[in-house]
Amino acid sequence: MIDAILPSWVASAEKFGDAPEETLFPEERPFISRAVDRRRREFVTGRHCARLALARIGVTPAPIPRGERGAPVWPAGTVGSITHCSGYRAAAVAPADVARAVGIDAEPHEPLPDEVLPTIASPEEIAALRVMGEADGAVCWDRILFSAKESVYKVWFPLAGRWLDFSEAVVDIEPSGTFRARLLVADPAIGTNDLPGRWTVSDRLIATSIALPRP
Ligand SMILES: CC(C)(COP(=O)(O)OP(=O)(O)OC[C@H]1O[C@@H](n2cnc3c(N)ncnc32)[C@H](O)[C@@H]1OP(=O)(O)O)[C@@H](O)C(=O)NCCC(=O)NCCS
Repeated sequence: MIDAILPSWVASAEKFGDAPEETLFPEERPFISRAVDRRRREFVTGRHCARLALARIGVTPAPIPRGERGAPVWPAGTVGSITHCSGYRAAAVAPADVARAVGIDAEPHEPLPDEVLPTIASPEEIAALRVMGEADGAVCWDRILFSAKESVYKVWFPLAGRWLDFSEAVVDIEPSGTFRARLLVADPAIGTNDLPGRWTVSDRLIATSIALPRP
């Protein structure tokens, strides 16, 4: 699913089940030492997918620690992103001389809880979702918007190293499977205010991605 919305210069791996905990590196175990079963499984399988994806770009299996504010610390010379939700885990990676950043996000294909939408979307974004819902009521456009903003953050944070609020990016979704995120704050490390992305849905899942090439 994730591969279909990534460019050819990004490698990915996904799983609909879970990998055994033995696949973790000893250095990674402290990050889940006090975690509940659900968290252990998503962390383990996210790392497993990351190593499968890294192998596809020729990187020997290595630990991927949790870094600042939870961002994965990728092996030198690589960039990437991990996502997990119920029944799905995925990772996407690229050589750092090819890509500046990659962000992926997966969500259940379900409407957002009513109280969440106004906290992650502007009135203009909500109005655009309403129009799309009238044209195609089978797609949970609000969840795509949320997922797109999560992908924005996963590209933003490793480059900018700071928080980005949901109100600081405006996302325009195209029904054809793309979106554009317009950043309302500038950061020299990002170097652009315009982040193009892609989305896909299945009956059960939504996935979004942003891949920033190195010029
Ligand atoms: C960090 C965040 C984006 C994760 O998204 P999520 O939908 O909750 O969860 P996902 O399963 O898709 O992703 C979790 C993975 O994201 C990665 N991640 C966590 N923090 C990260 C960060 N600061 N930067 C990049 N990646 C991060 C990790 O790999 C994590 O999995 P792991 O802990 O097992 O390694 C989200 O929890 C968050 O804090 N959002 C608020 C910020 C935001 O989205 N702003 C909107 C800007 S428009």
